[in-house]
Amino acid sequence: MTISKKTYLKNALKDYYSHSINPPIVRASTILFKSHQEIRKAQKQKQISYGREGTITTLKLQNLLKNLEKAYHVFLTATGFGAINLAIFSLVRPGDEILVSDSVYSPTRLLTGDFIKEFQIKTIFYDPNNIKDLEKKVSKKTKLIFVENPGSNTFEFQDLKKIISISKKKKLFTIIDNTWGTPYFIQPLNIGFDMSVVAATKYYSGHSDVMGGTLAVNKRVFKYVEKYNKVSGHRLSPDDAYLIIRGLRTLDVRLERHQENTKKIVSFLSKQKKIKEVLYPYKKSSKRYKMWKKYYSGASGLLGLLIKSKNKKNVIKFVNSLKLFGMGYSWGGFESLVLYQDIRELGKREFYNFKKDEHVVRLHIGLEDPKDLINDLKKSLRFIK
Ligand SMILES: Cc1ncc(COP(=O)(O)O)c(C=O)c1O
Repeated sequence: MTISKKTYLKNALKDYYSHSINPPIVRASTILFKSHQEIRKAQKQKQISYGREGTITTLKLQNLLKNLEKAYHVFLTATGFGAINLAIFSLVRPGDEILVSDSVYSPTRLLTGDFIKEFQIKTIFYDPNNIKDLEKKVSKKTKLIFVENPGSNTFEFQDLKKIISISKKKKLFTIIDNTWGTPYFIQPLNIGFDMSVVAATKYYSGHSDVMGGTLAVNKRVFKYVEKYNKVSGHRLSPDDAYLIIRGLRTLDVRLERHQENTKKIVSFLSKQKKIKEVLYPYKKSSKRYKMWKKYYSGASGLLGLLIKSKNKKNVIKFVNSLKLFGMGYSWGGFESLVLYQDIRELGKREFYNFKKDEHVVRLHIGLEDPKDLINDLKKSLRFIK
């Protein structure tokens, strides 16, 4: 019987052994065996033999995500950024070049554009709006392409199949950060990506109180990630794995409501003269919309606002005066959030020229009544002059 993702998320992992709908939290550093032979047998069969490899709770989460991602295996890390680290360092070696999308999450930019140089690895950033730029930057030394879709803050959507076709021709590896879409809206391994990262901190847990990361991989790269995972110390705690499983039960319901609310808010914001551009896939004639439509079955609740104003203070007043949008990092929880994005958050882009009078404000649209959110925005927008 084939069942939909919605049904699967409700039906998976029922535990008839402990008679619970969700698996129990098993905390363990020592995994207990009855004999020396049993320990060796478990190791030979690649089963868990030490708590760093996980417990029944983390195994259950891995199994659930393996099906959701259509992956060969899913590795778990303590944060989303940990999964990005695991993905990159499993593959790169001194002398390699890597191609990274210019609008990646700023810590990813810091890692690839700066820190990684110390390992004699060269990062070349490519324009996420220009596939030809990516193609021309591939060299004999290129090892992998790192994509984040959509881009952080500016929300560019790339032609994913074209990226895969370039990587196949040149035998490169591909990684995508799929935190925005999650495998509920797009399954990157089905398109041909070797690895897909999701920060479980965001929509998977959904309640802004857990951190975690997941790295779904295909068979081609499994051996590399397994090897590095063994010596890198990455692990997700069983308590956090439990909370992520609990969050995943309602991933579909939450994401669909985030989408519904965001559409209403984007429709309001796109009519505001003070906002130059709403950075979200809604305008049918735009490349952003076309590329989103080509690959995604839905859109989540994170978006950017490009605001034109000579006075930064006024834009900050707008942000500060919002009553229903909390201010703080992260997103993907049930609540609305806002952030004014300076260069600190945007990263030093090579392919986006922010003008002096342009400002980026990031909104996460939560599950509140959208009418209340619109009223809040309406009241605060008057500060932008
Ligand atoms: C797109 C994206 N990827 C990865 C991460 C990192 O996740 P974490 O904060 O769990 O390390 C973030 C966090 O904001 C993010 O926005």
